[in-house]
Amino acid sequence: MEPHQFFPLRHPLSDDTPLAAALHSLGTTLCARDRGTYAHSARLVPYAHKIGTILGLPPDRLRILRQGAFLHDIGKLLVHEQILTKPGFLSDSEWSVMRQHPASGHRIATAWSVPESVTGIILTHHEWYDGSGYPLGLKGRRISLEARICALVDVLDALTSIRPYRRPISFAEAASAIQAERGTHFDPLVVDAFLTVPVDVWAGLRHAAVSASPAAGDKPFDRFDKPNAKVVRSAGAHPPHCSDPGLHHMPCSAAHLCF
Ligand SMILES: [Fe+2]
Repeated sequence: MEPHQFFPLRHPLSDDTPLAAALHSLGTTLCARDRGTYAHSARLVPYAHKIGTILGLPPDRLRILRQGAFLHDIGKLLVHEQILTKPGFLSDSEWSVMRQHPASGHRIATAWSVPESVTGIILTHHEWYDGSGYPLGLKGRRISLEARICALVDVLDALTSIRPYRRPISFAEAASAIQAERGTHFDPLVVDAFLTVPVDVWAGLRHAAVSASPAAGDKPFDRFDKPNAKVVRSAGAHPPHCSDPGLHHMPCSAAHLCF
């Protein structure tokens, strides 16, 4: 499917306000530049809403959560495509560029007059519950609950989606991987809420998002479809700048593909 066939995009945010229209415009810009990141962002909206609902967030905070989930990676507009789609490990300089996307996204969204409650989610979605995340190294409940929810669903979608360097894993495997990071990467409260939902429900949410809007589907990577493609996996531990945003306790899934 050619990129122009995805436009106009279905509006992934359920509210119909001037702000939501502006956010939709930002999302459309992201889709035109980087369809894979747009698809990932659109899928995060129902995932984040599901966990927020289980945790009893009121409607106004659920709206903020959905907006933050949709825009969390908007800073990748400023990351060069060669880095975004690199099938392997990032160099020191590439990694330092990639790590700037939360702050870049915060600046972009602030310039669009997006409220601080939402820009804060963008800035802190790569913080870890144990304080080892970036860019601020915030710990525990110094990270907003909305950002802690986004951190989990960000990884859930990353693991269950095609990446330039690997195939997706199942929702059941992703749930196990997320449970293993309870209290380190992820807030135990958010993990426990996530685990109350059967894995087929998460798969159903993904299917519904993609059915409603083809632009929310995985961007195909031709290299996986070539019959002679041979995936050469890296051995074991994650190298320092692995481009896989997945989980550190798992064997590194980054792969080089040889034809
Ligand atoms: Fe991100």
